[in-house]
Amino acid sequence: MDLNQVYRNTVLSVANNKTVQDIVKQRAWSVAKRFVAGEERQTAIEAVKDMEKVGVHGILDLLGEFVDTEAKANEFADEIIRLLDAAEGQGFPIYVAIKLSSVGQKITLANGENLGMINARRILKRARELKGFVALDMEDHPLVDLTLQQFRTLVGEFGHETVGTVLQAYLYRTEQDRASLDDLKPNLRIVKGAYLEPESVAYPAKRDVDLQYRRLVYQHLKAGNYCCVATHDESIIEDVKRFVQMNKIPNSQFEFQMLYGIRRELQIQLAREGYTVRAYIPYGSDWYAYFSRRIAERPANVMFVLRGMLKG
Ligand code: FDA
Repeated sequence: MDLNQVYRNTVLSVANNKTVQDIVKQRAWSVAKRFVAGEERQTAIEAVKDMEKVGVHGILDLLGEFVDTEAKANEFADEIIRLLDAAEGQGFPIYVAIKLSSVGQKITLANGENLGMINARRILKRARELKGFVALDMEDHPLVDLTLQQFRTLVGEFGHETVGTVLQAYLYRTEQDRASLDDLKPNLRIVKGAYLEPESVAYPAKRDVDLQYRRLVYQHLKAGNYCCVATHDESIIEDVKRFVQMNKIPNSQFEFQMLYGIRRELQIQLAREGYTVRAYIPYGSDWYAYFSRRIAERPANVMFVLRGMLKG
């Protein structure tokens, strides 16, 4: 395992500790604001409008992870539908990200139906009416099979213009997963992967993750599919630019995606160069898990958090 992975695994393990959670939740909001647009829906919509002014589109993301009750899952889905409604007519493309686990993916109803699918269909129906797009985020590895199965069903019902999903380059299985989805002509976001994963399922060395990342993007583009290149890694971005030029892949077949608060200048520069660029804009009060993953991605971020917390 390389040093990057050791750092990442340590931060993610510490972040799971209840005492650490309580302290950080109380004291780190001023720091978390760098990565989270705000707690309210309207603040997130304003953040998208600000990004639009510099040529970057937004991906609205209501923060929330796994929920264990039917009522919470339904309420979460209702809020996403309210978000879609609020985005209507604002003058920007409607694009949201959801985690199936937050709308009931792990809950089976008495009649045998999966609550996550019921709620996903409600959300997708509204998104399709508004000509919007919904990306199903990918979570930790035990959820990958189910998410891909559900994605397949949902693309069949709503089409690849309405729903896409995410593949993570750190998992050994991903090259096969990507190929197995080709018949759907899927819109896929390729990411490196942000969860704490064991060596039995994920590459422990960053070098291997980066290599598989490039392979996945190239294969997906060569297969004629739409690819969301979601990374802040400039050397990958430069390689992708060269690859599309050499292979005559039009700009309309891919886009770059990055996270709110990270490499904003690069986002604007790529948009100025004529590429489609979308920034993931998270909002909501349940920011802790998302924030921990951002801290785990970069050693310098720990100092940033500690300084921020000491300032109060
Ligand atoms: P890498 O970690 O190699 O970073 C490259 C450079 O980017 C760094 O050197 C630094 O300059 C900058 N950088 C990266 N992270 C930073 C941070 N936190 N703070 C400051 N600078 C940073 N993951 C997942 O498992 N499931 C998902 O659904 C998604 N969804 C998603 C959507 C979008 C739009 C993006 C951009 C990313 C995700 N991710 C994700 C997260 C992804 O898996 C990955 O953890 C991050 O993108 C960081 O990896 P990079 O590809 O940027 O490379």
